[in-house]
Amino acid sequence: MTAKTFYIETFGCQMNVHDSEKVIGTLLSRGYVQVETAEAAELVLYNTCSIRDKAEQKVFSRLQQFKREAGKGKVFGVLGCVAQQEGEKIFERAPHVSLVAGSASYTKLPEMLVQLEAGGRRLTGLSLDTDETFDTPFTRRDNPHRAYITIIEGCDKSCAYCVVPFTRGPERSRTSASVMDEARRLAEKGYTEIQLLGQNVNSYRDPSPAGWDFATLLERVGEVPGIRRVRFTTSHPRDFVKPIVDVIDRNPALCDHVHLPVQSGSDKVLSAMDRLYTRDEYMRRIQWLKGARRSIAITTDIIVGFPGETEADFNQTLALLDEVQYDSLFSFKYSPRPNTSALHLGDQIPEEEKTRRLMVLQERQRAIQIRRNSEAVGMVQEVLVEGKNQALGQWIGRTSQNRTLNFTHATDNGENLMGRYLDVRVTRAGPNSLVGESVM
Ligand code: 5AD
Ligand code: SF4
Repeated sequence: MTAKTFYIETFGCQMNVHDSEKVIGTLLSRGYVQVETAEAAELVLYNTCSIRDKAEQKVFSRLQQFKREAGKGKVFGVLGCVAQQEGEKIFERAPHVSLVAGSASYTKLPEMLVQLEAGGRRLTGLSLDTDETFDTPFTRRDNPHRAYITIIEGCDKSCAYCVVPFTRGPERSRTSASVMDEARRLAEKGYTEIQLLGQNVNSYRDPSPAGWDFATLLERVGEVPGIRRVRFTTSHPRDFVKPIVDVIDRNPALCDHVHLPVQSGSDKVLSAMDRLYTRDEYMRRIQWLKGARRSIAITTDIIVGFPGETEADFNQTLALLDEVQYDSLFSFKYSPRPNTSALHLGDQIPEEEKTRRLMVLQERQRAIQIRRNSEAVGMVQEVLVEGKNQALGQWIGRTSQNRTLNFTHATDNGENLMGRYLDVRVTRAGPNSLVGESVM
């Protein structure tokens, strides 16, 4: 491989998106040029997700498309969670793949690239007990205003359905000094929004003598001069403590939004999922959030059709939606995953029934969102401008509560508003976004 063009496609969560930024930065630093299509690239990388079977299948269908390219100078690499989970089996299934590497091995990427360039085949980077990958000198961030910072890798929970502990390994927190240093450097470069990332940010524990917990880290990042917005994802309710809400209440730079995945409204299902909290304990956290002085948007993740979920259990999840009145949610049909303990549970729910429950749940939530979003009509909200819809002549903004607010700008004289913070009056509301006009 001499000329160096690469293509990368990313699946899955923000952790993966950020990992790809690290991989892209490393490749660019080694003289590679990023291209827009797999066809045009000599090195084709897929950064994969295995959270559900559908996500996992995507990478194999991509690889299948290029089966005949093998030996024609194109080199294929599989990165991320499917790589970690399937390991060398990927070489059997897709013999034209040359590199299989999980997220904990990206610091070794430069060495692996040297080997690839020398014609190396069947290279692997699958160790999980490896040096940290938090901060590579090369991260190439995609967005000029909003930056991700990984604060904790891996997960020590063992939710019965979840593959993540196997694909991302045990929890490793980054030192607070290193997080703060990156936050300050980003602010100096002009970034105004930071998103703290981890599979479970709430169990962050500073490994240095300072010993900060997550609430402290959050507060300090919010105090970095120049940083106007701080978000974090994702939270496990068991580790979500009241001081986090107090810190949000105190510091205007912390966004009015908490994503608190509940998964189910039924105690029986929560227990079968090994979620380590009851519905009541979850609701206590919701009460903290609703009791805050600020109006904190609450979003969640729900799984329908977990083994043994009865109609009555499902109805308890619907009742939970009514009770919490989420601002938005992600909902999924349970998908059995390798290595997970739920694989061995009997009483699997038929696919059609999972589909039906998903539809019912989404319909219920849609009505809630229409109502909640309509409450915003007439209000003035600050947005960070993130894009423009040329066809509609509207700018695309995001509110602190993480809602999309599309707006027109009265004095639109061709000025570029990207990255600006503007006040916008909400004039209309749909189930998934708001519409408004900027106020002078
Ligand atoms: N099947 C369906 N959904 C899952 N999730 C995690 N594992 C599975 C699975 N096996 C969902 C959870 C989690 C979100 C990121 O993905 O709701 O919060
Ligand atoms: Fe997908 Fe989970 Fe891996 Fe993220 S951590 S890419 S959601 S499997």
